[in-house]
Amino acid sequence: MQISKASTAVGAIVEDVDVTALTDGEFADVRQAFHDHGTLFFRDQKLTPEEHIAFAERWGAIDFNRFFKRREGYPEIAEVLKEPDQELNIGGGWHTDHSYDEAPAMGSILYALEIPPSGGDTLFAGMAAAYDGLDDGMKDKIKNLKARHGNAHIFGEESEYRKAIGDRYTNADQAGQTAVHPVVLAHPETGVKGLYVNPGFTLEIVDVEPEESKALLEELYAHIMQERFHHRHQWRAGDLAMWDNRSTWHYALNDYQGHRRYLNRITIEGVALS
Ligand code: SIN
Repeated sequence: MQISKASTAVGAIVEDVDVTALTDGEFADVRQAFHDHGTLFFRDQKLTPEEHIAFAERWGAIDFNRFFKRREGYPEIAEVLKEPDQELNIGGGWHTDHSYDEAPAMGSILYALEIPPSGGDTLFAGMAAAYDGLDDGMKDKIKNLKARHGNAHIFGEESEYRKAIGDRYTNADQAGQTAVHPVVLAHPETGVKGLYVNPGFTLEIVDVEPEESKALLEELYAHIMQERFHHRHQWRAGDLAMWDNRSTWHYALNDYQGHRRYLNRITIEGVALS
């Protein structure tokens, strides 16, 4: 097994490995790489749904996503699907999964089944590198701030996006949760500091005026959106990507109209953030 950096800010590529056959020692190395790099990319995997689930369960209990349509017969697996005639895609903007939960999913494990002939890449951003890249004044300004996250604008009954994406999402009546988390998160397992706000689900910085909250979030987002904090993953069928929702953002590009893109995602339970 070989592990090499995918970019300076985020991600590592794990080669010469079959994730269904990792020894405990190899799994420990993979877990360390996951903590060091935030996202891992395994090429050339041949997973049945059962093997995908078994790999996910080595990381922890499965966090059943409430809103994605599930793969038939496999409630653990959320379908990330865009049909050729569908215009909107899932995850087509910078976000991190489940930040609206009190205990956001620790990680997401995405397996590629059908990939368009070109396009459909996913961008990842590293939140520790982005935090390190802030100047001391900004670090001081945000050090004790908290932000509220929510999901009704994406998954709720009134969400225009949900209405437009059709039956890809379910359980609109179960949307509406909000959760407050630190803006600067000491990672629950490594202690490494990173930014924990995202354009997909963060609603506001709490206890500041709305204009100040908006301006501060925009400034942080513009900072994180600099390419120096990113890695772009070009998918092949058989790729398995796994990201840490507490230390990364991701963005599924929607530039393959007329082609099908189909992946299966499993999310792993996380802990309350403080
Ligand atoms: C997601 O946001 O979980 C989907 C990412 C992707 O389709 O690449």
